[in-house]
Amino acid sequence: MSNNSQPLKPGEKILFTVAGVFVVFAVIAFIIMQFVIAKSDKPIFEQKTHANFSDEGQRGSALFRVTGCTTCHRALRNGTNMGQTADLDGIGSRRTMAWMYAFLQEPEKNYGAETIDHRAGERAAAHVALMPKEDLHAIAVFLSELISDQGSSSAPMPPKGESPFIDSMVKTWAPQSWKDKYPDIRDKKPQAVGEQKP
Ligand code: HEC
Repeated sequence: MSNNSQPLKPGEKILFTVAGVFVVFAVIAFIIMQFVIAKSDKPIFEQKTHANFSDEGQRGSALFRVTGCTTCHRALRNGTNMGQTADLDGIGSRRTMAWMYAFLQEPEKNYGAETIDHRAGERAAAHVALMPKEDLHAIAVFLSELISDQGSSSAPMPPKGESPFIDSMVKTWAPQSWKDKYPDIRDKKPQAVGEQKP
């Protein structure tokens, strides 16, 4: 026996009405938002990474797309959103071209830890190290030209200026002992951080 045809209880009526109001409100808000976006000439998301490619960098960019890197990585809106290691936008501000060239050829020797995918053998990205050296060089040049601005999530330096938010987070979450053990990256001059690129 089915009781689908029972009338709604008062509580159910209130619940469905409230849910319905939420849906209607969301639809209206969405329409207004689309309208504002269409009218506004400001970008919604500020572009915090940029790239200016040399000829070899251009070639590397094409290789990056056709040699399977984009199944696991992302750069310049191409590829997957799998995770942070996978996002290579701005990597040129964290790694030097020499490091990347060395990493692509001999991942294990240069990563500083065991690699998940790049290791030679049966791993999913094992083919990368076997690619022609001049192709890997072009890709390394391409990657080194993916620059991120200070304050971008992919930049080694936090945003310019004092941040009460960062200060309060550090105060709450970083144990006192860390202050003796680790330097605060914000105390360093930007160029000093740049020199530290491995
Ligand atoms: C099967 C997935 C996969 C593919 C394909 C792949 N990668 Fe990776 N890549 C990773 C993972 C995972 C890491 C982190 C290191 C590791 O564990 O292997 C990584 C790390 C890197 C790093 C170092 C990032 C850093 O700063 O630590 C670079 C550079 C890189 N990959 C470039 C490439 C290029 C160029 C290609 C294509 C020729 C490629 N990868 C193809 C998965 C992949």
